[in-house]
Amino acid sequence: MSVPLLKIGVVLSTMAMITNWMSQTLPSLVGLNTTKLTAAQGGYPDRSTGVLPANPEESWQVYSSAQDSEGRCVCTVVAPQQSMCSRDARTKQLRQLLEKVQNMTQSIQVLDQRTQRDLQYVEKMEVQLRGLETKFRQVEENHKQNIAKQYKAIKTKMDEIRPLIPVLEEYKADAKLVLQFKEEVQELTSVLSELQEEMGAYDYEELHNRVSNLEERLRACMQKLACGKLTGISDPITIKTSGSRFGSWMTDPLAPEGDTRVWYMDGYHNNRFVREYRSMQDFMTSDNFTSHRLPHPWSGTGQVVYNGSIYFNKFQSHVIIKFDFRTSTISKSRQLDYAGFNNAYHYAWGGHSDIDLMVDEGGLWAVYATNQNAGNIVISKLNPNTLQIVKSWTTNHPKRSAGESFMICGTLYVTNGYSGGTKVYYAYSTNSSTYEYIDIAFQNKYSHISMLDYNPRDRALYAWNNGHQVLYNVTLFHVIRSEEL
Ligand SMILES: *[C@@H]1O[C@H](CO)[C@@H](O)[C@H](O)[C@H]1NC(C)=O
Ligand SMILES: *[C@@H]1O[C@H](CO)[C@@H](O)[C@H](O)[C@H]1NC(C)=O
Ligand SMILES: *[C@@H]1O[C@H](CO)[C@@H](O)[C@H](O)[C@H]1NC(C)=O
Ligand SMILES: *[C@@H]1O[C@H](CO)[C@@H](O)[C@H](O)[C@H]1NC(C)=O
Ligand SMILES: *[C@@H]1O[C@H](CO)[C@@H](O)[C@H](O)[C@H]1NC(C)=O
Ligand SMILES: *[C@@H]1O[C@H](CO)[C@@H](O)[C@H](O)[C@H]1NC(C)=O
Repeated sequence: MSVPLLKIGVVLSTMAMITNWMSQTLPSLVGLNTTKLTAAQGGYPDRSTGVLPANPEESWQVYSSAQDSEGRCVCTVVAPQQSMCSRDARTKQLRQLLEKVQNMTQSIQVLDQRTQRDLQYVEKMEVQLRGLETKFRQVEENHKQNIAKQYKAIKTKMDEIRPLIPVLEEYKADAKLVLQFKEEVQELTSVLSELQEEMGAYDYEELHNRVSNLEERLRACMQKLACGKLTGISDPITIKTSGSRFGSWMTDPLAPEGDTRVWYMDGYHNNRFVREYRSMQDFMTSDNFTSHRLPHPWSGTGQVVYNGSIYFNKFQSHVIIKFDFRTSTISKSRQLDYAGFNNAYHYAWGGHSDIDLMVDEGGLWAVYATNQNAGNIVISKLNPNTLQIVKSWTTNHPKRSAGESFMICGTLYVTNGYSGGTKVYYAYSTNSSTYEYIDIAFQNKYSHISMLDYNPRDRALYAWNNGHQVLYNVTLFHVIRSEEL
């Protein structure tokens, strides 16, 4: 138990480094130095008292004002020495800067939400740890003499995990720092707004460079944060109860903004009708759908909808078909060489589930088994247009004893079974071509899982559980080395 926990500890402390960097370095990067700003504004017009600017090159000046013969107000104005054009360019530049900072604020909000979600997981763990500690203390008091030896072994284990408690506390503090940073960025937005009004109160070139630099680093940081290692699966939410014991359902991770169409395939063979629901809401509340007839029936439940096309295994073959919903035509069809089919290498539940297609942050994958790899799982990255194999990895995990599998950030996660108590217990990283045994339990609410796939857009697992369509959230931990910051 202590080993995975301590690994998380390492991750948490790198998270601490990021948030420290955010709260301390970032504000100075963008010149969030109130001393400097106040000093810089010192030489400029004070609106409330109407004092003229001390620096004539920088702003307009009203020389005199009078009434002409027709009673109109006449002002003589001296334009600033810099040309109008360059001034307009600056205004534009500032507007863009402002927009960028506003965009950043949105990014921070996303980061904040994720941190909050991860934090809930960490807090739960903390409660468990503390509970464990209390229990041990009670055991210690009650059985001081009789099971002393046994107790000593447990206590050693407890001592191993105790250092994690301060790490957890640190993580909580980090979440606070993210919040603080969020506030600082908001403050910066208002400072920039003021600057826009004042004009010329700052070295624009420098500010622009700083924000660009910040933006670049923040984006790189977010990108790294977007991927990580699976550390938890939430309780399931049942979206709908419909269909037979076996099937698959999904949304397209590349669908355009606002397109939440749900795709639904009941059964694992002898069916070729794909249901399209207009939205997740429609799917939940109605049976209003459009049917698409595929040119061939499918095998198994390994279909995936990706960028407007469905990819499926043609019944009784190792052919993969890409069918474009927009044109209702097959846009590509190709054999997946050596892949077992027709229940040669199904998942534990059977159902012609030999070839499982899936999508993660990195694109399209096929998971199957071959005679060459002795019936163990083979992972292939596919080109989504040509269906050609880009690269393959051979694992040592027998396909037939896997419950289901899904891909997150280039790592294949395999579950131990389809019925009863289920957990994710094997992980193969295509990044490092290595595997490890893990232990992430999740609830198998209706006792028969025939499909389990990750959607990188929702960061959720879609499952077909005995005629119920359910969703799970996942918690990913993001490992970032300090030299990358
Ligand atoms: C803020 O700006 C002032 C004036 O330019 C400078 O003396 C001071 O060192 C700056 N503080 C920080 C924290 O950068
Ligand atoms: C801010 O975000 C919007 C929408 O994502 C984008 O269109 C715009 O170009 C961004 N602005 C800047 C300055 O990056
Ligand atoms: C695997 O490598 C890719 C590309 O190098 C990277 O984007 C991804 O975050 C890595 N995944 C993990 C889990 O480290
Ligand atoms: C059913 O869905 C279609 C689009 O898929 C929509 O045009 C229609 O209004 C819906 N009907 C009802 C009763 O919701
Ligand atoms: C998605 O499809 C569109 C055309 O329909 C194409 O331009 C785009 O490159 C595709 N995206 C990916 C990631 O394949
Ligand atoms: C996943 O998390 C989001 C945001 O916190 C929440 O709205 C959603 O209900 C969660 N879904 C599940 C299946 O727990």
